[in-house]
Amino acid sequence: MLLLRAATARLQLSQSSLAARAARPLLASSSSYASSAPASLFASLRAMATTMGSPSIISMINQDHAKFKNLWNEYQGPNMNGEMKQKLGWALIREIAMHSSAEEEVMYPEIRKRLGDQAADMLLGQDGHQHIKDLLTELDRMTVEKDGEAAYTAKLKQAMDHLYHHIDDEENKVWPQFCALPGVDADLLSHLGKKFEGAKAHAVTRPHPWAPNKPPLNVIANMATAPLDAAADMWRFAGHPPTM
Ligand SMILES: [Fe+2]
Ligand SMILES: [Fe+2]
Repeated sequence: MLLLRAATARLQLSQSSLAARAARPLLASSSSYASSAPASLFASLRAMATTMGSPSIISMINQDHAKFKNLWNEYQGPNMNGEMKQKLGWALIREIAMHSSAEEEVMYPEIRKRLGDQAADMLLGQDGHQHIKDLLTELDRMTVEKDGEAAYTAKLKQAMDHLYHHIDDEENKVWPQFCALPGVDADLLSHLGKKFEGAKAHAVTRPHPWAPNKPPLNVIANMATAPLDAAADMWRFAGHPPTM
């Protein structure tokens, strides 16, 4: 009986160390963007970054952010021709549109619900995603072939510069303050992660700066517009929109 208890304890110990090891890559990817957060806040944010169930919304959002940075680095890499840059530009437009749409359906309303509109406006900033959508709409009307590689890259750089500031704000200011609110725990973050995943599944894939950006109107507008974007993407990506 004693031997059985000792074996069970060893098994539980090795399971928890395996789980800790599995969680490490997600913690590492989100931690590199949060270097300016206070240590205690940063530690609590890291603790909430993954749960034993579904991934937390924080880790999902931050993984998207890392993906945008990787695509932009790839765009600026050596041996990239115009066609390759065009495909990466289109992929960035698609990924950023989906991400912004899901944040506006799930994360931002949750922040508003818990903070109230006035405090949420202060934390999120008045502009939100608007300027990024405006710039990506301009970019979406351009092509490398029609406007030239230099002009296309300059417009994309403008959008990415703004996006980098926005990402820095979200990861180092907005998420830490949200995670410190009463009632925000690992279960909630995991639940929101599931909702975020669902919102991305029916998200728009092009920027729509004139569309409503708050529930419930944004949800209705996204559902009505997403099929049109999907049809346009089938043409743009020759029947194979990227799945990243
Ligand atoms: Fe955002
Ligand atoms: Fe974001």
